[in-house]
Amino acid sequence: MKKIVISTGGGDAPGLNAVIYAVVHSCYRKGWEVYGSRSGYSGLLDMDELYRLLPVDVEDIYSTGGTILGSTNKGNPFEMPFENLAGEVKIVDVSDKILENFNRMGFDCHIAIGGDGSLEIARRFAEKGMPVVGVPKTIDNDLEATDRTFGFDTAVSTATEALDKLHSTAKSHDRVMVVEVMGRDSGWIALYSGISGGADVVLIPEIPFDMQKVCEKIMDNELHDKNYSIVVVAEGAIAAGGEVISKGTGEVGRSELLLGGVGEWVAQEVRERTGKDTRSLVLGHLQRGGSPTTFDRLLAMRFGAAAVRLVQEGTFGHMVALQSPNMGSVSLAEAVKSRKKVDLNSDKVFTAREVGICLGD
Ligand code: F6P
Repeated sequence: MKKIVISTGGGDAPGLNAVIYAVVHSCYRKGWEVYGSRSGYSGLLDMDELYRLLPVDVEDIYSTGGTILGSTNKGNPFEMPFENLAGEVKIVDVSDKILENFNRMGFDCHIAIGGDGSLEIARRFAEKGMPVVGVPKTIDNDLEATDRTFGFDTAVSTATEALDKLHSTAKSHDRVMVVEVMGRDSGWIALYSGISGGADVVLIPEIPFDMQKVCEKIMDNELHDKNYSIVVVAEGAIAAGGEVISKGTGEVGRSELLLGGVGEWVAQEVRERTGKDTRSLVLGHLQRGGSPTTFDRLLAMRFGAAAVRLVQEGTFGHMVALQSPNMGSVSLAEAVKSRKKVDLNSDKVFTAREVGICLGD
């Protein structure tokens, strides 16, 4: 008999519940116990936030978005913000307490589902002696060590559907529509949805863009009797010689920048330089919501089942990884080493250029 604790950390992604479903079912069939830790590590810090998960608790959840366990991107146990009665915020390390509770509960393994931030925390716990298995999650698809992360396919589908809808209104009004999509420092969501959704311009962080080129493409459309244009901008895209546009870190305990604003900046530039009626919109967290696509559900379930196989083998300190067509694993140190960027020599980039999409260069 084994006793597992599972948690979801960082920004949510469609497919998290499908991983939980697969872990609970596959452990149940082995006669193992599964506990859920609420809101990342909160359950391991405060036992009230820890609860047993049985198949009845996860019935049908594989098709739902979000996470039944809750998540946070401000819950790094090694640097946890705590507000005292005087309202002062102090950063404290509660990792020893978490390890102590983990051992006290008699857990054999922690299955940590997360993106690069949460996997780095899992790596640090593994270093401290906690048996950990990681499961990669992020709509950004920016983990180098796995071919795919779940959540990405759903986010791309949502963005593509939005682009499909924008075509008709842009065309009716002879407008330029600038759409900002998520993805942090990688342009996967922008590139995949931009190609699939018939965009005229796609700006990704991997290619610093030139506004002159963007406007030339828009005016070229006019010359060819296409009086509207669709511009997709990744939130981390940067104008050549410029800087990433962000709102700072935004909240206490958060280390990553809150990206956003480049779409409106591009729209303003297009308006001024071309004189075209231009509107911008930010798809934002819509891309993280909703039911996971079949691809994401299946990948998430495969990850969950593979994570339990790693526990059975005793392969700790590793993350499950899609190594198409198989499911493999990599060490957590390898998993967090580098972020996956769009390869400018890949056929997807060639395809974008060949169908006439301007990439801003
Ligand atoms: O990493 C996933 C992601 O959705 C990014 O694409 C985005 O920059 C960030 O999270 C947004 O974070 P938050 O949910 O804290 O606004």
